[in-house]
Amino acid sequence: MAELMKGLKRSIYCGEVTEKLAGSEVTVMGWVQRKREMGPFTFILLRDRTGIVQVVVDENSSDGIKNKTKELKGEYVLAVKGTVNLRTENNINKNMKTGKVEIAPTEMRILNTSATPPFQIENSVNVSTELRLKYRYLDLRRPIVANNIMLRHKTTQAVRNFLTEEGFIEIETPMLTKSTPEGARDYLVPSRVHPGSFYALPQSPQLFKQLLMVSGFDKYFQIVKCFRDEDLRADRQPEFTQIDMELSFVDAEDVMSVNERLIKHVFKEIKGIDLETPFIRMPWQEAMDRFGSDKPDIRFGMELQNITDLVKDTDFVVFKSAIEAGGSVRCIVAQGCGSFPRKKIDSLVDVAKTYGAKGLAWINVQQDGFKSTISKFFSDEKLKEIADFTGAKPGDLILICADKNKVVWDALGALRLEVANRLEILDNNEYKFLWVTEFPLFEYSEEEQRYVAMHHPFTSPMDEDLDKLESDPASVRAKAYDMVLNGCELGGGSIRIYSSDIQNTMFKCLGFSAEDAQERFGFLLDAFKYGAPPHGGLAFGLDRMIMLMTGAESIRDVIAFPKVKDASCLLTDAPNVVEEKQLEELGIELRKNIETEE
Ligand code: AMO
Ligand code: AMP
Repeated sequence: MAELMKGLKRSIYCGEVTEKLAGSEVTVMGWVQRKREMGPFTFILLRDRTGIVQVVVDENSSDGIKNKTKELKGEYVLAVKGTVNLRTENNINKNMKTGKVEIAPTEMRILNTSATPPFQIENSVNVSTELRLKYRYLDLRRPIVANNIMLRHKTTQAVRNFLTEEGFIEIETPMLTKSTPEGARDYLVPSRVHPGSFYALPQSPQLFKQLLMVSGFDKYFQIVKCFRDEDLRADRQPEFTQIDMELSFVDAEDVMSVNERLIKHVFKEIKGIDLETPFIRMPWQEAMDRFGSDKPDIRFGMELQNITDLVKDTDFVVFKSAIEAGGSVRCIVAQGCGSFPRKKIDSLVDVAKTYGAKGLAWINVQQDGFKSTISKFFSDEKLKEIADFTGAKPGDLILICADKNKVVWDALGALRLEVANRLEILDNNEYKFLWVTEFPLFEYSEEEQRYVAMHHPFTSPMDEDLDKLESDPASVRAKAYDMVLNGCELGGGSIRIYSSDIQNTMFKCLGFSAEDAQERFGFLLDAFKYGAPPHGGLAFGLDRMIMLMTGAESIRDVIAFPKVKDASCLLTDAPNVVEEKQLEELGIELRKNIETEE
């Protein structure tokens, strides 16, 4: 039944057939969105990735066309040649870009038939994510998804153009490589030629881009796939794309400045939005104290407040012991949440607990007093003092957490977002950028019982803190910076260490012996002996950027062929078992009972 295209050439996309073309002849090709029969008329909506145009078959159409129209079903592939006619006033569809015109066909060919799709190709379909992803090629026909993919293309073009203008050079780095120390697990690829040896897929091009600085490519960039075997969330994928860059002879301000300009350019070009630069710069400590997060959403207030001093003389053992252990007591004022029913308040307590808090106290500020979980331990005068200090008004709910600082920040930071979501005060069309700077160089890993690099081991300490590197590592700040948008870490980077003395001290602090360091990163350390320039860089998560620009709910919605939570691909069924012969060639033998050993 399928016909050939011979003699027919598409002259225009469906979405581009507008009133300007009235009276002219066009040839469109696409998929049948819908066929509607109304008396002597048959309306065919024809769709391609740019939009939909209406074709009208009526008494004037040839018998051949009328007969073919009868055969048409949803998603048939159709070529239509015809005349563009203006619709009469009462037939205009204001919701369609092409709604003022329709095509009267003079030729029609069914280029292919289609099985009935498992779901409607429409923006609002009520089907499971699993089904959409199994048939992703059909899902990608839905305009809402297709538009994300096209916006992604335009964005990468805008990024390339901007960086090229700025003198950056795009250089590819290997995918089959040695493990880079970004902190997640590596994806490994066995070597056939070297049985027992493995490549790692890059978690980022970090070490290669630093080598390129040694080579003299003083402004490098790459739009590059990265691979991390970590637990997936709504904003994480096992393979994702970075806009990666590195620059020589720069300080942190230079890197932040060029990236602000890049983002300003992209937002203007793609969204027509004028962003105000420079973005706010907020030291990490301030971000934690005010927002309980190193990626604060500054679209709204409800900031954390420290009430440790107010309650430090208490006998209430929960607060007392937290303070004695070096922790703190902090709170947020959930405006207007005093009217929450008890169940809803309890669910806030549960949120705090998922972030490690052992409990959450609250004070419901009322017109004539207070209702509180801690009224047994605090007089009404004290509760009033807390309310006054925090600025809480009748109708507000004060949520208080006492613990180690990290737990308090995490729990209240999460509650702040939870309350904002429940109150529906977040506007997705508002873009609030900031830089978080002066991150701690190290964080203590309870699991490994040692300090680990918060960013990576090549990040430079701040000059002011160099002398504390060995004596008080926990207080050393790094020349690191993250760009944050609406509570999401869009990108991050740092100025790197280029002096071997500092690098060696750094390794010592991290508990690596000189031999360990040489074995893991020897090639980089060797390269640094040959005149490494001062350098630094940054990488954006492209997928996250597109997710925020499109307002997509999941990172999956902006990736053509994404993976699901357990890192599998529902379309191809990857990962999958391989033939015994393939394993043999690689010198690999699977352990017995591999399922039960996990
Ligand atoms: P970092 O590890 O912070 O830095 O990564 C940079 C950015 O990449 C994005 N990102 C992810 N996006 C989707 N899925 C993931 N699993 C994922 N992991 C990270 C985030 C993040 O901000 N080499 C350094 C950069 C540098 O120092 O120059 C690096 O990779 O948006
Ligand atoms: P308990 O004596 O453990 O029942 O605690 C009494 C009240 O203290 C609880 O209802 C909570 O409101 C509060 N609480 C418990 N743990 C914490 C904590 N870590 N931070 C703040 N409040 C807490």
